[in-house]
Amino acid sequence: MIRVMTVFGTRPEAIKMAPLVNGLSQDDRFQSIVCVTAQHREMLDAVLELFSIIPDYDLNIMKHGQTLGEITTKVISGIDTIIREAQPDIVLVHGDTTTTFAASLAAFYNQIPVGHVEAGLRSGNIYSPYPEEMNRRLTGILANIHFAPTKGNKENLLKEGKPEENIIVTGNTVIDALFQVIEEDYKFADPVLNKIDFQNKRIIVLTAHRRENWGQPMVNIFNAVDDIVARRNDVEVVFPMHLNPKIREYAVEILGGKDRIHLIEPLSYKPFANLLNKSYLMLTDSGGIQEEAPAFGKPVLVLRTETERPEAVEAGTVKVVGVNRGEIYTRTGELLDDSAKYFAMANAVNPYGDGKATGRILNVLFERYGSR
Ligand code: UD1
Ligand code: UDP
Repeated sequence: MIRVMTVFGTRPEAIKMAPLVNGLSQDDRFQSIVCVTAQHREMLDAVLELFSIIPDYDLNIMKHGQTLGEITTKVISGIDTIIREAQPDIVLVHGDTTTTFAASLAAFYNQIPVGHVEAGLRSGNIYSPYPEEMNRRLTGILANIHFAPTKGNKENLLKEGKPEENIIVTGNTVIDALFQVIEEDYKFADPVLNKIDFQNKRIIVLTAHRRENWGQPMVNIFNAVDDIVARRNDVEVVFPMHLNPKIREYAVEILGGKDRIHLIEPLSYKPFANLLNKSYLMLTDSGGIQEEAPAFGKPVLVLRTETERPEAVEAGTVKVVGVNRGEIYTRTGELLDDSAKYFAMANAVNPYGDGKATGRILNVLFERYGSR
């Protein structure tokens, strides 16, 4: 059996690694070793519980307000120790977080091969998304095998000189996860969501957390949302607030106590994915939501100045609108007031895969590492 150690630490990594972790544990060809850094705590635990994942190792590193340097050093030293104890044949990391990069470096120091899941996304700007673009590039250098969600991601890696035989286009495991949690007549347990009239109101789902948006951009975003809701009676906003206090402070100050704006705690993945499915459009700076919402045919306006996920933009369901208050107000207003513009964007497209990425990754792992 191939000893595969998966390492992840934040909510989005957990969602996107969950199908793979469960695939590994159900497959006789592999011995699965699950290691969480717990860069996130509550937001990670909600995903572990949903997908019934019990980690073999938990570094429990989350501390409020810690710096990137602190996360990096804690992950390197924690994973270093675990790798020496667990002796995996390969370490799998996901995406672009500081857990991803630091775990890859720890694996490299132990001369254990690294598989990078969701490899090859690039914005071209190392400060946006920050520090994710750099984390991706550094992980790409450390990785031995790259699981690229799309052909475009593969092209990015080829341009950086990665050998073609080490890049496999798999689709994104987020679609695998999404298919596991969507129910057509889903009923929310959350009392706020339960009361919302999804038939007669237009629901905007808002999420915001990116570091490059902390401060004035976040203030602009929240003011724009306030403007939008104040001028349209049939529009309501649901904002499951990220647990980072730097975001919650501004959110509560600008949007707290407003009619038709629901500031709620982060949702577990199943209710959140079903909320996306029932809503009208999304305003977000999230990466994962740019991949999920197009699968439902929901327009997404990206509250950033760029995206490393151009496929859904090319397909027409995602637009990058920046972080200027007036621009966000105008572009959202266009979708709310002009049904032709709305329906031009509301097309179900799925450039991120067919929900079968997990199987492809497992087969390639067996082909490459089965004879070691
Ligand atoms: C991290 C990732 C980012 C990813 C995001 C997904 C890095 C540098 N950033 O950003 O790439 O897009 O996760 O959400 O790797 N907190 C809690 N409980 C939790 C989670 C967070 O209280 O369960 C609070 C803590 O105060 C913590 C803060 O949020 O210090 C920030 O967490 P951190 O992981 O440093 O950064 P994120 O902004 O969440
Ligand atoms: N998500 C969730 N609950 C929420 C908000 C988001 O489960 O309250 C999911 C969302 O569907 C997506 C992922 O979390 O799969 C995105 O996480 P986040 O925006 O924190 O990170 P990013 O994708 O930007 O790295």
